[in-house]
Amino acid sequence: MNLINNKTVKQIVFALLSTSSLFAQTNLDSQLKESAEKVFKTYCWGCHHQTSIAFGPSFKEIANKREKGEIMGYIASPLSLYKEQGYKRSVMPSFANHLSAKELDVIADYIISFKEDK
Ligand code: HEC
Repeated sequence: MNLINNKTVKQIVFALLSTSSLFAQTNLDSQLKESAEKVFKTYCWGCHHQTSIAFGPSFKEIANKREKGEIMGYIASPLSLYKEQGYKRSVMPSFANHLSAKELDVIADYIISFKEDK
């Protein structure tokens, strides 16, 4: 009796391939999360906390009311947006010269990840 036939081999190979691409996906996500957390701790944590209000609004509060584009715009240029976002004054510095486009993108996704009932 031939227990391991061709079909079984194909199934095993397929299973291995799909788990490895699953791993690749998870690694990518955790890498992005890691780089977002690094940006957060380096530049934002003094004024923003994830879910509780600090000097600035919490990421949860921001995520609940803003789109990604608005969030990225604000980080790059608070002075051009604070009035239309309902603030009387702005004390947040611009991070346009501190963050790469990639870092801006991952920190915006990170903020959005705190959105409630998605
Ligand atoms: C010096 C303190 C300070 C730092 C550092 C800071 N923020 Fe802010 N941030 C604020 C304050 C205060 C506000 C409220 C509006 C204002 O002052 O511009 C704000 C507002 C925001 C908003 C807009 C909120 C809204 O209502 O849409 C976003 C988005 C934001 N911050 C993200 C960040 C990110 C991301 C970082 C780190 C890269 C960061 N901030 C660093 C103080 C800070």
